[in-house]
Amino acid sequence: MKIVVTGGAGFIGSHLTDALARNGNEVIVIDNLSAGKKENVARDAEFIAKDILKESIVQELAGTDAVFHLAADPDVRASAERPAKSFELNAIATFRLLESCRKGGVKHVVFTSTSVVYGDAETVPTPENYPCTPISNYGASKLACEAYCSSYANSYGIKATVMRYANIFGERSNHGVMYDFFHKLKKNPKELEILGDGNQDKSYLHVEDCVSATLAAFEKQEKIYDVFNVGSSEKQKVKKIAEIVCGGMKLKPKFRYTGGERGWVGDVKLMLLDTKKIRSLGWKQNVSLEEGINRYVKWLSKQ
Ligand SMILES: NC(=O)c1ccc[n+]([C@@H]2O[C@H](COP(=O)([O-])OP(=O)(O)OC[C@H]3O[C@@H](n4cnc5c(N)ncnc54)[C@H](O)[C@@H]3O)[C@@H](O)[C@H]2O)c1
Repeated sequence: MKIVVTGGAGFIGSHLTDALARNGNEVIVIDNLSAGKKENVARDAEFIAKDILKESIVQELAGTDAVFHLAADPDVRASAERPAKSFELNAIATFRLLESCRKGGVKHVVFTSTSVVYGDAETVPTPENYPCTPISNYGASKLACEAYCSSYANSYGIKATVMRYANIFGERSNHGVMYDFFHKLKKNPKELEILGDGNQDKSYLHVEDCVSATLAAFEKQEKIYDVFNVGSSEKQKVKKIAEIVCGGMKLKPKFRYTGGERGWVGDVKLMLLDTKKIRSLGWKQNVSLEEGINRYVKWLSKQ
């Protein structure tokens, strides 16, 4: 198959590109390198430097069977301070991408959404059919993208797969709570600042499992439009994440909490996804939280 991955030089996109290329597909990565790195892109994938918000990619999409759309501004915290950026890079860029898919005759789009579209869900684990009430601008922008994926699927027959990811972590990630802890500890191994009261309780999944879930949904989805939660079956408190990161770095710092039940504006304090649907396709988590964090900390230490 000919497959285009937008954001394929970034964290999750590059791992997905590796897997798609390994499976024998012709893979083209489109990325503007605003956050990603060219060296992340698999050698057997083609790389095109383009900004999908500003430039048309209709030509590049000619003859493409599927587009995995990951290019985005993934920063939840920053979306409170600069709402226009997440709206443009997520909602507008996705609308333009879907327009290019329509014009280019693409048959299938996989969109990487997020658990934060649910906001402060009262049903935990939260199933896919729970109402979406985002509490962050990032979440709102991603929900707008989902709505367009649904309308393009139903109006133009472009099959759309929406993946609602929990917190994904692992090698090549340059953001998120573990990345933040690691770099704070590098600067000051004696004290670690933890945003909020440390009791935020959420699901974290290693990127290897995120990629296998995405491919399972891509290959096995039957409906023209469908949504899949992807996450671990257990949640973990932020202070426990801090302990595992410290253990991996062989450090015993004092924890200093900034206080409050949320780490930042728009932070969801309790998140666990109901993953029965993706598991019914044969997917299961293979990497435990401890093993995943240890692998990630090792990788960070080598950078
Ligand atoms: N990491 C997570 O925990 C997580 C959780 C839920 C959803 N997601 C979603 O998964 C996707 C990938 O996230 P990630 O963590 O790998 O982020 P990332 O920042 O590592 O990757 C995003 C990539 O998109 C590229 N990009 C951004 N804007 C672009 C544009 N206008 N044109 C072309 N390329 C552009 C960046 O250079 C980067 O390589 C995003 O859509 C994100 O919202 C991530």
